[in-house]
Amino acid sequence: MSVNRIVGASSDTATKIPVIIDCDPGHDDAIALMLAFGCGRLDVLGVTTVAGNTVGENAYRNALAVLSLIGADVPVARGADAPILRPLYTSRDVHGESGLDGLPVPPGLKGGGLTAVEFLSETLRSSVTKITLVPTGPLTNIAILFLAFPDVKEKIERVVLMGGVAGQGNVTPSAEFNIFADPEAARIVFHSGVPITMIGLDATHKALVYPNEVEEMRRIGRVGAVAAGLMDFYSRAYKARGFEGTPIHDALAVAAVFDEGVVKTQYARVDIETRGEFTAGRTVVDFRGAAGREPNARVAVDVDRDRFMHLLMTAISAL
Ligand code: BDR
Ligand code: CA
Repeated sequence: MSVNRIVGASSDTATKIPVIIDCDPGHDDAIALMLAFGCGRLDVLGVTTVAGNTVGENAYRNALAVLSLIGADVPVARGADAPILRPLYTSRDVHGESGLDGLPVPPGLKGGGLTAVEFLSETLRSSVTKITLVPTGPLTNIAILFLAFPDVKEKIERVVLMGGVAGQGNVTPSAEFNIFADPEAARIVFHSGVPITMIGLDATHKALVYPNEVEEMRRIGRVGAVAAGLMDFYSRAYKARGFEGTPIHDALAVAAVFDEGVVKTQYARVDIETRGEFTAGRTVVDFRGAAGREPNARVAVDVDRDRFMHLLMTAISAL
């Protein structure tokens, strides 16, 4: 595989937002991909994968499986198999053994030959327009990209990432999973100078999908039935934690790329705690400028849940 499209050169794609999705599928990553391809508002130039919810091999294979299911023919490039400094920390309790339990994965799926960082750097360099990056897993690939090829930062419109929290975490009381899994990478990305929109748990835990909506999804058609099957597995872990509905975290990040009204954001300084005994992986969000440092991110603080559900159902129906 090589990068041979001149991004922004076709009038066909002129009105769509060019994005690359960096993910670790993952049930909510899978539904995020469905939203990205079904919404009609994004020009998805490629998908890169990273170890996070599951090991690197599974994340890559799961991404290929989801894309093949929805008939999306885009480059898929495998990225980091482990965080920058730490051992891999997966989320088997939420996403199961395969990382995407509940989805039958057809054998023999193959992606391209480039690594994630090669694909990202080549696509960004050859693009005539700026591209939005949408990471929905640990930020390892994006941090490596910024360290290895800092020049490509100027080709990035913004990074809209799922991760972090100003309030209570989900993997520890302090930290959200994607940032906890690779806090050193998160620090590099938040300090990169690239515009960042942080879609964290403060918003995603308000964007719950309820059981009756999963049933509605199941009736939408072939892709809806698969999405509902994924929700059946994924919802169990949230039900066990006392949630009445299930947050599809990563899909909210995708929605926020093309619909300004789906989340409310506030500018803040966000720093990443990498060393705290109880707080490693915390996104320290300074809304009031207490530390006197320049804001470096727009942080999602609220969500229009009905709007999000409408976007999601409409996109799934279109696939
Ligand atoms: C994030 O962690 C993963 O379990 C999900 O895929 C999502 O990206 C939520 O904390
Ligand atoms: Ca994810």
